[in-house]
Amino acid sequence: MRTIATVCTLLLVAKGAVAGEDAVLDIEGETFITKTAAPAHMENVDTIFSGWVFRTDETQALQLDDFDNPAFVFVDQALDQWDTAEGSAGKACSSCHEDVSEFEGLKAKLPRVENGELVTLTNLVNTCVTERMGAEEWSYSGSKMSGMTALIAHQSRGMAMDVKIDGDAAPHWELGKEIYYTRVGQLQMACANCHEDNYGNMIRADHLSQGQINGFPLYRLKNAKINTTHGRFKGCMKNIRATPYKEGSAEFKALELYVASRGNGLSVETPAVRN
Ligand code: HEC
Ligand code: HEC
Repeated sequence: MRTIATVCTLLLVAKGAVAGEDAVLDIEGETFITKTAAPAHMENVDTIFSGWVFRTDETQALQLDDFDNPAFVFVDQALDQWDTAEGSAGKACSSCHEDVSEFEGLKAKLPRVENGELVTLTNLVNTCVTERMGAEEWSYSGSKMSGMTALIAHQSRGMAMDVKIDGDAAPHWELGKEIYYTRVGQLQMACANCHEDNYGNMIRADHLSQGQINGFPLYRLKNAKINTTHGRFKGCMKNIRATPYKEGSAEFKALELYVASRGNGLSVETPAVRN
């Protein structure tokens, strides 16, 4: 109980306007949607914000210019990987896919259901790696996969997130929603307690955002590498002393769909920069 009280006092109670909500994310002449009306399915929030608006001026600035954005080192490495043959078929991505730009728009619609299964971008890449290249599966949040998914998601930068939540996606979405609102861990907190009830407030030295994933995979200053959505979910679950689900698990994929749907309407920012 004392730990719960401690966390609660870390969160300021008053919530006014979100500081920085009028900052403009403009990259090479393109203006991104970082603030917009919440999608109809969100019951408790009127306006959705990209995590970018909650960051300090210094961190925000790193995303304003691709030359300053440290993520591009990893995106460039993925471009080399794109041309690298691997596996028993002796093929590279570029042996079959003409150009990575053919994946424009893909990220904005993921995760999606295929043959009854919820698939993420990571799953799609691994299908090619294992079944079409005859190589060992790439680890879910390893450097090869995080770089490649950042490169592919980058092709959709500037497009609005638009994941499907009805039809065959509905049961996965419902599961993700349930996880989002369920209190877990020693601190007995749900994602919603921080990212819905307290965005805009400070928790320790950190300015709480809505926990959106439109910028993922993204570069974090904290660990100087590309971080994946599931890696971030895991970190937040550890912070509330809960046992995290596994990266790539049905639970995290459902949570990814649900959280992505809370950002429907925000621009894809990949690769974003956060602290
Ligand atoms: C032997 C040929 C082959 C190789 C090599 C290959 N792919 Fe594919 N890939 C395909 C085919 C065929 C599809 C399914 C048809 C489609 O959607 O284009 C596909 C689908 C995809 C998709 C999903 C596209 C969509 O719109 O649903 C992604 C992403 C992808 N590949 C990425 C990669 C990456 C990254 C690599 C290298 C690590 C790679 N592929 C290597 C043949 C290949
Ligand atoms: C105790 C409060 C707390 C809880 C509970 C919590 N988070 Fe977070 N989360 C944070 C903090 C602090 C950050 C870093 C600042 C920020 O972006 O909000 C963060 C960041 C994130 C980000 C990165 C956002 C961005 O723009 O880079 C995502 C995504 C996220 N959380 C998702 C989740 C999910 C999903 C859950 C539930 C499994 C969860 N969080 C639970 C505190 C929390």
